[in-house]
Amino acid sequence: MLQALIFDLDGVITDTAHLHFIAWQSVAAELGIQIDEEVNQSLKGISRMASLERILQFGGKVGLFSVAEKVAIASRKNDRYVALLGSLGPESILPGIASLLDELRSRGIGIGLASASLNAPGILQALGLTAMFDYCADASRITCSKPDPEIFLAACAGLSATPQRCIGVEDAQAGIAAINASGMVSIGIGATLTDADLRLNSTEELTWRRIAGLMELTDRATAVRR
Ligand code: BG6
Ligand code: MG
Repeated sequence: MLQALIFDLDGVITDTAHLHFIAWQSVAAELGIQIDEEVNQSLKGISRMASLERILQFGGKVGLFSVAEKVAIASRKNDRYVALLGSLGPESILPGIASLLDELRSRGIGIGLASASLNAPGILQALGLTAMFDYCADASRITCSKPDPEIFLAACAGLSATPQRCIGVEDAQAGIAAINASGMVSIGIGATLTDADLRLNSTEELTWRRIAGLMELTDRATAVRR
């Protein structure tokens, strides 16, 4: 029996991944670092400060900035990102997500959020989805970021759900690793992801029928192992 679906936000509920990219690209360019789509892929699911460290590493500039300077750079990136979020509204919810949330609600299945973004509450509000989530893990209280399972386990605990009875949905490789490490069943959205229990090309394919089928397969595999 499925107890809850726990969603990542950026790239799963709404396409903010490219807004993070635009904001980082402009800040990185000011530091003399050109980042491309490949670097951006490696930033998905990674916290703000960890993203900055990766960018500095990519640009060969590790150790050149003090902690205070790095905080200022990250905050500059966030100001630009938040400005870009201004255009977000209910029409920015990715295809299929709103109807899936309705379906889960009508079936009494818990709905959780496990996003590394400190902007998550504001984004859910802009999308008009705050009331749809039964529990949102608080990114500011998480000490180990994805691929560590901490945020998914915090969401399960907040929903009083057993990880093995929950599905996590992610668009980042670090996120899939976090879900798998938590003991939950994983669904990956994106062509390049590996290791997910089910991989889909887009949120449009994330239907109740597919979710129910995945849970049935998982239950059968568990029964065979017993
Ligand atoms: C994740 C994104 O959801 O949130 C990352 O995939 C981002 O790209 C991280 O760095 C932190 O977001 P924020 O909004 O706190 O800077
Ligand atoms: Mg994401």
